[in-house]
Amino acid sequence: MTPDALRALIRTVPDFPKTGIQFRDITTLISNGPGLAATVEILAEQADAAGAKSIAGMEARGFIFGAAVAVRLGVGFVAVRKPGKLPVPTIGVDYALEYGMDRLEVDPAAIRQDESIVIVDDLVATGGTALAAVELLRTAGARVDHALFVIDLPDLGGAGRLREAGVAVDAILDYA
Ligand code: PRP
Ligand code: ADE
Repeated sequence: MTPDALRALIRTVPDFPKTGIQFRDITTLISNGPGLAATVEILAEQADAAGAKSIAGMEARGFIFGAAVAVRLGVGFVAVRKPGKLPVPTIGVDYALEYGMDRLEVDPAAIRQDESIVIVDDLVATGGTALAAVELLRTAGARVDHALFVIDLPDLGGAGRLREAGVAVDAILDYA
């Protein structure tokens, strides 16, 4: 399936969750079997080429693609969680979103020292979420050199910020 065929499966919802935001909704992509499979296949090839020994995905949409890529490659999955969900002491970081503030947490026991972890998420906008994940995973001892997304919103500058932090970025589609 071509990137343009995948683009046709993504729904744009104006003014969600706030006025002025064009929400790029992957619900319609993941409910399409061939579309979901093709997306996971592309991300898995990119993660394999990046030398992934483990995949990290951010709650919630990053879990969908990240866990599927991990299964496809036969590697583990590190859940980067929203606050208060993990039942053990965590490391955490607060960050800004295109439409608000949030916090991410990980269990350091899920991360092996110096392991190469590739980040997978549905979308990069400001990069706040992915940069928070990079910071957390590096603090926990991982090597994080690649982040993969289904969608990049280049006008919001997140991919550029990740590259400045030493993270190579790939996205299947962009919405400029
Ligand atoms: C969305 C999306 C990314 C993030 C991108 O997640 O899935 O994780 O925003 O934005 P950024 O580059 O500006 O940080 P959201 O926090 O809305 O949570 P969800 O996955 O639970 O819907
Ligand atoms: N996360 C941050 N910005 C977004 C957008 N415009 N659409 C979907 N998810 C997002």
